[in-house]
Amino acid sequence: MAVRAKKRKIKVLLVGNDARGHAIAEAIACSNYRVELFAFMESLNPGIAGLATGYELGKYDKPAAILAYVQSLNGVDFAVISPEKPLFYGVVDALEETGIPCVGPNKLPAQIETSKSFTRKLLRKYGIPGNPQHWIFTSFNPGAIKVFMDHLGQAVIKPDGLTGGKGVMVQGDHFDTKDEALKICAEILKKHPAVIIEEKLDGEEFSLQCFTDGKTVVATPPVQDHKRRMPGDTGLNTGGMGSYSCADHLLPFLKQSDIDQATQIVWQVVRAIDHETKELFRGILYGGFMVTADGVNLVEFNARFGDPEAMNILPLLETNFVDICYGIIGGRLDEIPISFQKKATVCKYLVPWAYGRDLPQGHPDLSSNSAKIEIGDLGDAKLYYSSVEKRPDGIYTTASRAVAVLGIGDSLPQAEKIAEKAAQAFSDPVDHRRDIGTDCLVQRRVDHMRALRGESRR
Ligand code: AMP
Ligand code: GLY
Repeated sequence: MAVRAKKRKIKVLLVGNDARGHAIAEAIACSNYRVELFAFMESLNPGIAGLATGYELGKYDKPAAILAYVQSLNGVDFAVISPEKPLFYGVVDALEETGIPCVGPNKLPAQIETSKSFTRKLLRKYGIPGNPQHWIFTSFNPGAIKVFMDHLGQAVIKPDGLTGGKGVMVQGDHFDTKDEALKICAEILKKHPAVIIEEKLDGEEFSLQCFTDGKTVVATPPVQDHKRRMPGDTGLNTGGMGSYSCADHLLPFLKQSDIDQATQIVWQVVRAIDHETKELFRGILYGGFMVTADGVNLVEFNARFGDPEAMNILPLLETNFVDICYGIIGGRLDEIPISFQKKATVCKYLVPWAYGRDLPQGHPDLSSNSAKIEIGDLGDAKLYYSSVEKRPDGIYTTASRAVAVLGIGDSLPQAEKIAEKAAQAFSDPVDHRRDIGTDCLVQRRVDHMRALRGESRR
């Protein structure tokens, strides 16, 4: 019997306290390296703390605090950054200055997420396909905004900057008239350097999370997230209520050519970032795409794994995640054969009832009154902690997504059943979307795409 050589002991820093961070911590902890994992978190994630040798609490906008923690550890071999906020505040630049390589881009390449205007301009400048019609307004110009909206017909309004995935306003869903649009633009410009108005696309969205060392791009299986708070894709946009992926590493409404187009866009963007910023993007580049009747369009880029989408792909990795991290930081990702189990996944977030909802006055506001989470039998599902508060008598909700459950199965219905059963094992203070990953919702997406592509139902 072949005996696998035990690898040397390494120290890894994880910056992050979200469920995505919990999934990353798990992938690091179960690698065949002897790992000591240390976590820097804005709030205590019990899942990450349980996997780590040590942790420190502090703010992501203070690179000096993270450096001080690393110093107290006598350095680490490398760092992995989970959320976008530390990227925006230059944590990678600060760590790299002290010789610590990072899975996560420097501040300049991270603009691909932190500035939507940077991204739209980059695609335009380098002639990269998939850029919807758009206009970037840096000052309030009601006349020009109205003219451009007339030209588009239906529009989407986006603030330039970090908004936690919640700042985008879609015409027909979040506002109707041009006067409402003007008010939204005026408000955005009070807080953000620019507002982007772009053409409203009609299609189906998918997330393509790619590993890259700035030279090689490796796409992971596509995932579909559900940003809307309420069943049937209604209600406000959230950070993501849940997501699914399929055993064939496609999605039921996608063709392989759609994935190829999207991967090609990511690759061109990686090259363009290098050219534009003179820095390589090293980390995870996540393209949020919409496939339409005219092909694949770019909705947004993120400079990190998706949350919840990280949970759909990391547990399926057949390749050692730490080897991938070394491939990314060492610029030799092309040498790492990366594969995933051929399994389907469904992830569902349990959130406080008030999360992402405009509730009538008088409704108990659980987002400010935290409540104890009671967890029953999770069956075969995996559990990932997100924004929770650990107290001596148990786990409590905060204002945001609380925990995620993940079902893994040979088929989507099997994975959905596992996730749904686990989601139902939580009692009242939390809510979830029962429809994520169900046949009915998935079929609606397939029918939508067929109608757009002019294909008849079989
Ligand atoms: P973003 O933060 O850019 O990902 O946008 C949040 C959500 O708004 C997306 O997931 C889409 O559902 C929607 N959205 C953003 N841009 C567009 C667009 N150009 N057309 C239609 N929907 C959009
Ligand atoms: N799931 C959307 C995001 O991670 O931004």
